[in-house]
Formats: sequence, C-alpha cells, structure tokens
Amino acid sequence: PVLVVDFGAQYAQLIARRVREAHVYSEIVPHSMPVAELLAKRPAAIILSGGPSSVYEDGAPQVDPALFTAGVPVFGICYGFQAMAVALAGEAAHTGNREFGGTQLRVAGDGGVLLRGLPAEQSVWMSHGDCVTAAPAGFAVTAGSPGAPVAAFEDVERRLAGVQFHPEVAHTAHGQTVLKRFLHEVAGIEPTWTSNNIIEEQVAAVRARVGSKRVLCALSGGVDSAVAAALVHKAVGDQLTCVFVDHGLLRAGEAEQVEKDYVAATGITLKVVDASARFLGALAGVTDPEQKRKIVGREFIRVFEQAARELEAEEHVEYLVQGTLYPDVVESGGGTGTANIKSHHNVGGLPEDLKFQLVEPLRTLFKDEVRQIGAALGLPEEMVMRHPFPGPGLSIRIIGAVDEERLAILRAADLIAREELTAAGLDRSVWQFPVVLLADVRSVGVQGDGRTYGHPIVLRPVSSDDAMTADWSRLPHELIARISTRITNEVREVNRVVVDVTSKPPGTIEWE
Ligand code: XMP
Repeated sequence: PVLVVDFGAQYAQLIARRVREAHVYSEIVPHSMPVAELLAKRPAAIILSGGPSSVYEDGAPQVDPALFTAGVPVFGICYGFQAMAVALAGEAAHTGNREFGGTQLRVAGDGGVLLRGLPAEQSVWMSHGDCVTAAPAGFAVTAGSPGAPVAAFEDVERRLAGVQFHPEVAHTAHGQTVLKRFLHEVAGIEPTWTSNNIIEEQVAAVRARVGSKRVLCALSGGVDSAVAAALVHKAVGDQLTCVFVDHGLLRAGEAEQVEKDYVAATGITLKVVDASARFLGALAGVTDPEQKRKIVGREFIRVFEQAARELEAEEHVEYLVQGTLYPDVVESGGGTGTANIKSHHNVGGLPEDLKFQLVEPLRTLFKDEVRQIGAALGLPEEMVMRHPFPGPGLSIRIIGAVDEERLAILRAADLIAREELTAAGLDRSVWQFPVVLLADVRSVGVQGDGRTYGHPIVLRPVSSDDAMTADWSRLPHELIARISTRITNEVREVNRVVVDVTSKPPGTIEWE
C-alpha cells in the first residue's frame, strides 16, 4: 500500500481518497508508528500529511530521518513537507508570512517532474504559518509562493518530493495531477487499484473466510449494506440470505427497490419482513426524537433477531455481513492507534446468544469506491447513488407523532422534491435533501376560492463532505419554485413550503 502518515489534521482521509482515485491502494497510519513498523508494511510509497503543529514547537511530531534512507519513495505535504525538510537538514522557519486559503503558486524553472508543463502561475490551497526556507541538499526547488519561497521540491533520483500546498483539496487547481505524478512517475507505482480488481480481491477473501458456512445480512435499503451483500453473494452465492426489515418508514419506492430491482440485479435470496404495523404501533403518539430513535432501534433488533432465529432453526448461521466502511474503521481507532473519534454501530446491540462472526467486505473502502463497486456489480443506479438516509427513516422527519396518514403526506412531498432535484441534474452537488413535515403546525392559506388550514413542508437541501459540518445548498430559485408549486398543488394537506437556510453548526441536518 501507499501509507498516509496522519499528522493529526483532517486531511489524511482526503489524501488517502485522492491516492485511491489515482488507482493506487492507500492506508492511513498514525505518525506515532515507528519507521521499522512502517517499513514492515512494505509500502510502495509514504505520504506525510499536513498537521496542526509547528515543526519547531516542543513536542511537535518529528520524522525519523531513517525514513528517507530506506529507498521508499516519500512525499511530504504541508507540515509533512516541512518536517521532511528539517529531517533532511534543510531549513524551515517561522517567518510570520502566514498563508491561508487560495494562493498563487509560481512554478520555478521547468517545474521538475511534479509541475512540468503546468501553468507557470496556478492557484493552490495553503494553510501554514511556518515555511521551508532552504531545501535539503540534492533537492530541486520547483515552485514558490508569496509566503513560501520554497513551495515544492523534489529529488527524483532518491524518489523524494514534497509541496507546501495541499494537492488533495479541490481548490488546488492541479492538485490531483501533482499527486498522480508523484505516485506514477516519481514513485513508479502502477495504477492497478480498480473496481474490478477490488471485487476480485474481496470475493476471494470472502470465499476463503466463509468456506461452506451460512451467512446472513440485514439490508437497510442503503448503499453500504446493498453493496456488501452483493459482494458476498458473488463470493458464496446462496449460502447468503438477506433479511430486509420493512419498518414502514422508508420513502416512496424504496422498499420496492430492495424487494424487486435489487433482487433482480443480484439474484440474492431475500427474506422480507413487513413489520410496518409493528413499528407504527410502537411509535404511536411518540413525539420525542430520541424516543423515536430508541423505539425504531429496539424494534429493529427484535424483528431481525426473530428472522435470524427462524433461519438458524433451519441451519446454523455462522457469519453476519456488515457494511462497515474505511472511515468508520479509521475513526473508531482501527487498531492503528488513531484517536477514537466516535464508535460506530451498524447493527448495534444484537443479543448475546445470537453470536455471529462478522464479515466486513467494505472495511478498506471509501464511500465513492463502494458506489463504483456497486455500479460494477450491476446494482440499480438509484440505489448506488442514493443520498444518505437515517436509520429511523421518516419517523424523525415528521415533527410530531408518526402515523400512516402523515407518512403518506411526507412521502408524496419528498418524492416531488427528489424528482425535481434529479430532473435539474443536481443529485451529485447536493449531499442530502431531507424533506420535513411540520405535522403539529398548521398555517392558513388560500386555494381556489377557499381558505385552507394545512401543514408546512420544510426543504432542507445541504452540501457537506462527511455530515459533521454542512451548509445549506443554494438551489436555483426556479427549482425551489417548481418544487413548491408542485407540492402545494399535488399534496392536498400541504399549503406552504419553506426552505431551511441554516448551516451545521448551529443547526443539525435533520430537524430531529
Ligand atoms: P444530523 O441531523 O445529526 O445528521 O446533522 C448527520 C447525518 O446523520 C444522519 N442521521 C442519522 N442516521 N440514525 C442514522 O442512521 C440516526 O438516528 C440519525 N440521525 C441523523 C443524518 O441523516 C445525516 O446524514
């Protein structure tokens, strides 16, 4: 793999993703990992990420010079670039010339391997207070910026290079080109990490692990479980049984997608449990958001457990498939010593006496890779490209108690919003588009000749990278107008449409 050494900024995951986009497998490791351990992973290259520290600060993470004599290609970014310069006896200094955000980079000479043929002036994303003031011996300086006299250097002979700017962020115009040139031209790594290779590898791994045992998977309707199950099915065929608990809180068409399109595309054996009456019964009269979440979580486990026991009664089930992704692994510590940011529970709290071993074929993958694999496996496009959708479903998008009638209103409005967003070609630029029914609020309106007293619908389109922070999407006014007109015309109970223009923080993405 290419190892991305995490110096504690939020950039390591992004770098790892960009490396994968260059069709090279990458993994994130903590900066505390000793060089011997790094080398033991037989890295094809090592990338030192940016970080919040200043190289000359007490306790700032250092780079062991031994890293540069092992013959492994190394690429330093931002803090990693400075730490690399210092470790190789160049110089970095606190000059007071801070640069944050878009900066003009000036290519020096022919630009070396990394920048050759690219525009002499180009915009890059910077975020630094210190800078490299002298490149180490043997390095060619290939670019500078107003605040960083040495903004890129390389020693192609030793396969070492670095940049002060952040090539991994979209604001750096030629960032991906620079990264690819390091990987393919400086480090000489072949671009072999492709969907087909990933599928082949995972299928072989699952087969080896599972043998002839039986496997169970809970499908949620989301991308991750759908792709995980399809991969496992490709590996072990009918040894896999999927259970789909229809809790009655999905959006229009979603249950059908799982029950028909997905099964048609994969040939998977699917046990559908229609538990909507049970969920709605348990939710009756409940208005508190956390209560709703607890009830849905609890009922899900009960229903799934029942289905699992029925299957177990036929024949022992050894494995349970989970759609855990690489960011979950990294953020939960991942066994690499990275800080435990949050613990993830995909099928949390299964009872003790249902003991399964976990099969997690997506553990090494990022979301975009999972989508590509899903497409390569022939899953329906709407399923593969689906926006994130919360486990408790529409129950937390009805502000007030949940019942069939209210669900029907919300489903109708939500479908219109989704249809229009798709028709406008904006599915990819909007990260998530909750539609919320203010079921306990009524407002006066006028329709035809009569006064109406209906409910407001809230549109909550947001842009985000990871749901931790988000901004409200600036949808074209024409699109909002179309959605509003259609909803108020076509959904009788709704006489008002409002747009939520709150970022996160302070708002959350969902209303509950
Ligand atoms: P918030 O509303 O916290 O949402 O900004 C962040 C992301 O998490 C999703 N979300 C949930 N997903 N169970 C889930 O599986 C939940 O209870 C839940 N609550 C929020 C939300 O849709 C958004 O993508």
